[in-house]
Amino acid sequence: MLKKAVWYKGSLILVVAAFVVTVGLASVGRTNSGQYVGSDACAECHEEEYGNFKKYAKKTHSGEAVKIMATDLTQEELAECYACHMTGYGQPGGFVSFEKTPGLADCGCEVCHGPGYDHIESGGDSDLIKGKLSMEDCTSCHNPERIDAFDFKPLLYGGAH
Ligand code: HEC
Ligand code: HEC
Ligand code: HEC
Ligand code: HEC
Repeated sequence: MLKKAVWYKGSLILVVAAFVVTVGLASVGRTNSGQYVGSDACAECHEEEYGNFKKYAKKTHSGEAVKIMATDLTQEELAECYACHMTGYGQPGGFVSFEKTPGLADCGCEVCHGPGYDHIESGGDSDLIKGKLSMEDCTSCHNPERIDAFDFKPLLYGGAH
């Protein structure tokens, strides 16, 4: 009787262990680590930054001009626009099209802070998001040919929140 109960317990543990391993492996297979998620996913924990950004930053409209001009542009030209006017174009989880990824059809939080998936999954681990920024984080888009809204160091804090 006692022996049987021990055996039963043992196999139950095995079944549970096998289940945990299977589920674990399955989720490793389709991990979202490193992906872009869009600004709306930041709102609940960073209400203030999100509110200021939506209210003041022109970045939150950066997709509109491109959308309006899209019919006059070739696919190659459009891809160039997307690289600077959308969030994460061509990157995992990033902008694909206005229809498929409306939440990424502008320059969101992540164009400056980098993809947010891991930071959010961890419940806000600061090591998993880019917190300290430098001019190199801006010049991929704000290069010398597009210098109107861009000047010197103080502007590192411009266009954000
Ligand atoms: C290398 C990055 C880059 C590329 C490529 C790019 N833009 Fe821009 N664009 C910017 C930046 C940065 C600004 C705003 C800063 C400025 O005006 O100096 C801007 C501003 C604009 C503006 C004026 C702002 C507004 O919303 O009215 C329009 C319109 C525009 N871009 C359309 C386009 C279109 C269309 C394409 C593709 C043919 C394109 N851009 C390609 C970076 C880029
Ligand atoms: C134009 C670039 C840019 C964009 C877009 C941007 N930020 Fe920031 N963010 C910054 C800069 C610059 C700092 C200050 C970093 C430092 O102190 O070196 C910062 C700091 C922060 C901080 C740290 C606390 C603070 O306020 O200093 C949080 C949280 C943050 N941003 C969240 C967000 C969220 C959420 C969004 C979108 C709603 C966003 N950011 C969009 C540039 C940006
Ligand atoms: C589940 C809540 C949560 C969500 C969602 C979230 N964050 Fe955070 N974030 C935090 C917490 C908590 C901190 C740490 C605050 C601290 O240590 O003072 C933080 C810190 C930061 C910092 C500062 C990092 C540093 O080095 O100081 C930035 C930048 C930031 N978040 C950006 C974002 C962005 C962008 C998004 C959306 C893609 C986002 N966060 C979504 C909770 C969240
Ligand atoms: C992915 C490309 C991209 C990156 C990276 C980027 N920007 Fe921008 N930014 C834009 C575009 C596009 C606009 C023009 C939006 C419009 O007017 O339609 C813009 C607009 C601005 C403006 C105009 C004023 C306003 O209210 O928005 C400022 C200032 C600015 N960006 C600062 C920065 C700074 C500082 C950084 C780096 C920390 C940065 N940007 C990184 C694409 C980018």
